[in-house]
Amino acid sequence: MYEIIEDLIKNGYFVGESHLKGKNLEELQENCNKLLVETTSPEKYNFGKALRIGTLEANRDINTGIYKSFTTPQLKKVKGKVFPTGCNFTEIFISHEFTDAHGLERNGYLHFDRIWTFKYFYYLTDVESCDHGPLCVVPRSHYLGQKLRIQDFHKPYEFQRNRIESDYPEIYSEVQSQVTPILGPAGTLIVFNTDLFHMGGKVRDKQERKVCRLHMRKERAP
Ligand SMILES: [Fe+2]
Repeated sequence: MYEIIEDLIKNGYFVGESHLKGKNLEELQENCNKLLVETTSPEKYNFGKALRIGTLEANRDINTGIYKSFTTPQLKKVKGKVFPTGCNFTEIFISHEFTDAHGLERNGYLHFDRIWTFKYFYYLTDVESCDHGPLCVVPRSHYLGQKLRIQDFHKPYEFQRNRIESDYPEIYSEVQSQVTPILGPAGTLIVFNTDLFHMGGKVRDKQERKVCRLHMRKERAP
């Protein structure tokens, strides 16, 4: 737990390579695969299939493989540390990316999220090279991201700047060489807050990536 918190403070993210293994990983994969097969994607998603399946509590009894993977004793403690007075928003997402034929969406560019969110992010498939669409981050950019986000907080959502290359070109030229892909086998856990500069990796043709994420936040406030 302390390792995760220390990394979050220092670097803005933590990587737990093979955090889930064996039966626990299989349960998470089977649960997500079943939902990906059975559920129709409600939203248009250019890169494959994306599902939003509701809150952590709503999934406690119906998707136990997923619920268990986000509520290990260690992850419960980290959540308690980040949200000492409780966390009133949780939402689970599953995505299966298998095409890059449509170019990049907004999250395919280096950015921080306009709405601060704390995320638990599991790779369900091996992400062993840049062809598999790794999540990419700029280590230690979370304090600068926080400053930039708060600076625009008073503006209407659509006017809040968050894309580094187009909105902050001078910063982009400084940090682009620090963009770091996070590689790891299925079961790898990434914990980060979205003030960290990050971007969704690009999945090459004939490759795929599956991910399951838990998003957490309090009411929208700087
Ligand atoms: Fe993002």
